[in-house]
Amino acid sequence: CGIVGYVGPRPSQDILLAGLARLEYRGYDSAGVAVIDGDGALGMRKKAGKLAVLRDSLKDAALADGNTGIGHTRWATHGGPTDENAHPHLADDDKLALIHNGIIENFAALRDELLADGVSFRSETDTEVAAALLGREYRNNGGDLQLAFRGVVNRLEGAFTLLAMHQDHPGLVVGARRNSPLVIGLGEGENFLGSDVAAFIEYTRKALAIGQDQIVSITPDAVTVTDFAGTPVEAEPFDVSWDAAAAEKGGWSSFMAKEVAEQPEAVANTIRGRIQGDQVVIPELDGLDELFLGINRIIITACGTAAYSALVGKYAIEQWARIPVDVELAHEFRYRDPVIGDDTLVVSISQSGETMDTLMAVKYASERGARTLSICNTQGATIPRESDAVVYTHAGPEVAVASTKAFSAQITALLLLGLHMGRVRGSVADASADVAELAALPEKIAKVLESEQEHVTQLAGWMADTRSVLFLGRHVGFPIALEGALKLKEISYIHAEGFAAGELKHGPIALIEPGQPVFVLVPSPRHSAVVHSKVVSNIQEIRARGARVIVVAEEGDAAVLPFADEVIRIPLAGAMFEPLLAVVPLQIFAMALATAKGLDVDQPRNLAKSVTVE
Ligand code: G6P
Repeated sequence: CGIVGYVGPRPSQDILLAGLARLEYRGYDSAGVAVIDGDGALGMRKKAGKLAVLRDSLKDAALADGNTGIGHTRWATHGGPTDENAHPHLADDDKLALIHNGIIENFAALRDELLADGVSFRSETDTEVAAALLGREYRNNGGDLQLAFRGVVNRLEGAFTLLAMHQDHPGLVVGARRNSPLVIGLGEGENFLGSDVAAFIEYTRKALAIGQDQIVSITPDAVTVTDFAGTPVEAEPFDVSWDAAAAEKGGWSSFMAKEVAEQPEAVANTIRGRIQGDQVVIPELDGLDELFLGINRIIITACGTAAYSALVGKYAIEQWARIPVDVELAHEFRYRDPVIGDDTLVVSISQSGETMDTLMAVKYASERGARTLSICNTQGATIPRESDAVVYTHAGPEVAVASTKAFSAQITALLLLGLHMGRVRGSVADASADVAELAALPEKIAKVLESEQEHVTQLAGWMADTRSVLFLGRHVGFPIALEGALKLKEISYIHAEGFAAGELKHGPIALIEPGQPVFVLVPSPRHSAVVHSKVVSNIQEIRARGARVIVVAEEGDAAVLPFADEVIRIPLAGAMFEPLLAVVPLQIFAMALATAKGLDVDQPRNLAKSVTVE
């Protein structure tokens, strides 16, 4: 869910709606705002559906506006996406409004307690329980909102960001966080709260990060942060390095189209400042050699697209740093009894830095004594704050739900990390060829975008009625096959599967029937003639059974020509660098197919970009 709060001289509704528009990628099945108007009365409007539905409703019948407000865009957990279940939720005779991101695990017990107390509920949400609890605390303590808020957060279990305000206290918004994100935006005579800096980037680039289990109060002129016991704490200031324009769609048809096109820049920005001569040196890891020397095992943990970048990282780190690497989905890692300790480095990868599954895996790893390093795209996010070290990807804000440029930046960061570790551990004596490959990547990605955009878009147009697509790859092409299939599932709602090409004959080949489209990622014969020829054999096997074969192969590879229905070309690159080129046509394909089907590319059904529940 996305959360925004405002206090200051401007009409709050505009600011809330603008903030919610930037946060909509966090969830978009309902939205709502509450404002305290100039007469000190609280008004609220909430609507099922995308933000546009709420915006239209406010256009038709505006709320009386004021200078204090909170807004919410929802990704449903407890209770379906209806008007009633949307946030804000009201309490204390509708004088108090509260919004929430996360899951309150003990809500059933609290609800029973409140029902016994005579409270009635309008929704099925855990959030309304928190609102009712706050209303009761507020009345019981004689109208001290901050004190009441402290009383509430101490009774909640689970993960939450909460914002609340009361009409008897205009000019005050209180907030708290446990395991869910919240940042403060500092203005002149105005202050903001948001799930991330995108909420207020239009107004200020000065921000304060709030730690775990902290409470914040904002007024137009002051910000106070305390722990859950009420003891003041220092919040960490940071400057946001990107501006509002970076999070705008510009002239593009979708954020996804823009973000796919931004990949050369995202990769270049991730590499920048991390090459010294012909070595990779990541300055953030200065003085942390011990992280890479005292270990005998690495586990990379992540979810979704980030987990596929991790699989590419496994190949690269094992090759360069000569340490065994396992990749674990974060939600699986934590709920077994993994063998980890102080000889293990757990690397987490997360674009948002807030994915709850990944955050919990990192915390678990730390508790078990492992060292932790995160690869993250969002400054000040929770996962890097919980890790011993962080390598930021500098992909810029990614808004489309389906990850593209963040994925490329994650692979780039993993390649950098592999070469950095290889240098520290002495297993890479000469990185000059790889450094040259890194430096050449942005231009090569740009070349794929330029040369294949039209061809792949046309191909997708022809295939708009396709019901199933398969993707095959070997070596680092395998994770790219998985990612190609995920992109298609996410935004085109087409059944798609990625397989290791060698695995096909062990089962999935039974799926091949005449006309079945199959993408095959063909590795360069220059890297391994054997692997290349194996993939060419796999192509023949599926071709013989009638598959329609779309090959992604390097320029000049003629061996694939006799067996391919379509050939997509990528420039020559080193083995570990090919995934960054091969993934681009697959992203374009998914995007073009979704567009051909008339679907919303940026906000696919049922998904959210940042999933802050387990
Ligand atoms: C969600 C998104 C995916 C994303 C995954 C991990 O499931 O829908 O697109 O890959 O989370 O997100 P993260 O922010 O941790 O990289």
